[in-house]
Amino acid sequence: MREPNEADDAAVARARAADAAPLRSVAALPGPRGWPLIGNLLQFDLPRLHRQFEDWADRHGPTYRLRLGRREVLVISDAETIAALLRDRPDTWRRMRPIEAVIREAGGHGVFSAEGDDWRRQRRLVMSAFDPGHLKRFYPSLQRVTERLMASWREAARRGEAIDLQASLMRYTVDVTTGLAFGVDLNTIDAPHPLQEHLDKLFPMLFRRVNLPFPYWHYLRLPIDREYDRHLRRVHEAVRGFVQAARQRLQDEPARRERPTDLLEAMLAARDADGSALTEEEVAGNVMTVLLAGEDTTANTLGWAIWLLHEHPDDWQALVAEVDAALGDARLPPSFDAARGLASIEASVGEAMRLKPVAPLLFMEANRETALAGFRLPPGAVVFCLMRRAALDARLAEDVADFRPGRWQDGADRAVQKASMPFGAGPRLCPGRYLALLEMKMVLGMLARNFELLEVGPEGGGAPGERMAFTMFPVGLKMRLAERARR
Ligand code: HEM
Repeated sequence: MREPNEADDAAVARARAADAAPLRSVAALPGPRGWPLIGNLLQFDLPRLHRQFEDWADRHGPTYRLRLGRREVLVISDAETIAALLRDRPDTWRRMRPIEAVIREAGGHGVFSAEGDDWRRQRRLVMSAFDPGHLKRFYPSLQRVTERLMASWREAARRGEAIDLQASLMRYTVDVTTGLAFGVDLNTIDAPHPLQEHLDKLFPMLFRRVNLPFPYWHYLRLPIDREYDRHLRRVHEAVRGFVQAARQRLQDEPARRERPTDLLEAMLAARDADGSALTEEEVAGNVMTVLLAGEDTTANTLGWAIWLLHEHPDDWQALVAEVDAALGDARLPPSFDAARGLASIEASVGEAMRLKPVAPLLFMEANRETALAGFRLPPGAVVFCLMRRAALDARLAEDVADFRPGRWQDGADRAVQKASMPFGAGPRLCPGRYLALLEMKMVLGMLARNFELLEVGPEGGGAPGERMAFTMFPVGLKMRLAERARR
């Protein structure tokens, strides 16, 4: 981590001078009453933490205070303030420290949890693996995985069975991610793969540990901790397998060192070229990072988008019409460019991510003394960013709470668009966003062209619940489909 220097002191001085009023202390803000010594910590209801924070914003105002032990936490929901903070990384701001500690313990320390120069080094490699040029070369494999998903949905439609939407989408996203990033075709869609079962168990536990006041598991292992260790061991075994296979490919075909075909080969080649580039631990950590970051995020967003579109039949029909016109007789987008051009899918997904962002909260920590929104923040100050509340700010538009994909197409709602940051912002903006958008266009395009939506929702009706476990899940989504008649 870079040490603060004179320029930083000058930045704080400028921020102070820019605010006509003297900087305030977070302690002076209103906020929910806590307990002596522990503050609000024991009040946190983890599966609905985002709702709880949003409810407190309704009660105490968009900028309020929480207490974690003796530490004051600033909670913010203004889009511009959040964007300014996120842009000022990695120097002034970092992810909240327990995130790094908990992910490191899990052996998943990579670009998501790295900071400073370590992060810069890893970020370059990861970015190049997910750039549009690389995705274009991967497109035939993406089509193959999407065909498998289509076949499994067709089978369910013929049998009149309800599809467990989240489970099905997570098999899709894990197959796509492992194919693209590690050169492995897992095919969890056709047959369950143990990796999937174990991977799914990690996020809830990581989230729990990040939010616990004290790392009790260093001293005492409860049954859930032993269970978590078991899942971790199996995921590590799978990761070792991916790394060994990639190493073998590099050995068999040394030309791949110059032109690596996936992220894992690129990480290994970089490491071998210059022993200091990425350590063994960082290679494995980034494999796990990408597995975790690429699975639930995209699957949950797709689940929310499909549910919202089913709830808004006119928007769904507009999307179907666009897909029919673009695909003609094809069942799937015939090329990378055809998929990328599906604008109404991009608009629907943009709107779904605004109302149901899978990362509705981001937790940040100051590396040094700084100022934000008129508050003085000492080194180590923690700030919680309420991402969804920023995108639903009533000052932005009268219909801000409504699902209206058209606002992404006519360009009229620029203010709403700007306030929605589902992939984060600034230098740490999600590197998987092009892949995620492409996957969503493939799945929604395939769904629209080949199926009718009969039912989407939880068993028994109503809106699906929102459950936080690092990402925000829709609870209990089932989908029933019928095949569309072919012309
Ligand atoms: C709809 C799908 C997705 C959403 C909503 C999403 C959202 C996010 C968000 C909010 C962040 C934090 C950004 C920040 O700190 O400013 C992030 C970071 C990250 N995402 Fe995604 N993501 C998605 C899909 C993916 C995919 C498919 C991958 C890779 C396969 C991926 C890999 C990463 C990585 C490696 C980071 C860490 C970047 C860094 O710290 O420099 N994400 N993502």
